[in-house]
Amino acid sequence: MITPVVVANWKMHKTPSETESLLSEIIPGLREMKAGAEVEVILAPPFTSLPLAARVLAGTGVALCAQDCHWSEEGPYTGEVSARMLAEIGCRFVILGHSERRELFAETNRRVNMKAASALFWGLTPIICVGEKEDERASGHTEMVVEVQLKRCLSELKLDKGQRIMVAYEPVWAIGSGRTPTPPEVDEIHRLIRTELLATFGEERAATLPILYGGSVNPANAGPMLALDGVDGVLVGGASLTAAGFLQLAGLVRAAGPQGEEI
Ligand code: PGA
Repeated sequence: MITPVVVANWKMHKTPSETESLLSEIIPGLREMKAGAEVEVILAPPFTSLPLAARVLAGTGVALCAQDCHWSEEGPYTGEVSARMLAEIGCRFVILGHSERRELFAETNRRVNMKAASALFWGLTPIICVGEKEDERASGHTEMVVEVQLKRCLSELKLDKGQRIMVAYEPVWAIGSGRTPTPPEVDEIHRLIRTELLATFGEERAATLPILYGGSVNPANAGPMLALDGVDGVLVGGASLTAAGFLQLAGLVRAAGPQGEEI
């Protein structure tokens, strides 16, 4: 059984003091809705807010996530942060291969693959993002694009006992645009991703790995996505930047209940 997941990707928003103030609204709200046991809540503030967020979130059941990491443990990589560094400050997740990194910062599937291996080694769960661009969808290449991204990002990854990955399907054209695919379109791609996970990790492991939908998720459109059997949660950008929006989404994820087969 997969516990439903909500991930807040704050991107390059919120200074440490703004982080503290947003968390002071989010944490009591989550406590009130008793989200803890029934929803896996994951917050990804920017790097500069991570140490403070780690302190505030300690003991709350809310997990801390970084928005990227380097694939090496340490080295002459100016401006980079390693999975080892993130693990030491209490991060448990890292978003990898986000389309903004792919588009604006030359992220490649090969690098996502190396980063994921390093994240797993240091005890972090990678949340690997895949998704097609608008022209790729228009030309009927969505499935091929997602399949190739996944195969390359997951290449030779092994999951030891207790290790997990999550995959987020985020159509690039839906991110920050207010547009979303229809639930049947999401369903189709989530099935393809599940099939790919089965081929990579075997049936038993793959059935436990959450597949999230992301791309302009908000309280008004999340319901139909979350109602799909193949959608185990959501990765939220803009709508996670206010406590009201995020708490509403966490409530919807909780209401959607666990998805997937009991194993
Ligand atoms: P959005 O961002 O919800 O603002 O579209 C989602 C994401 O980029 O993960």
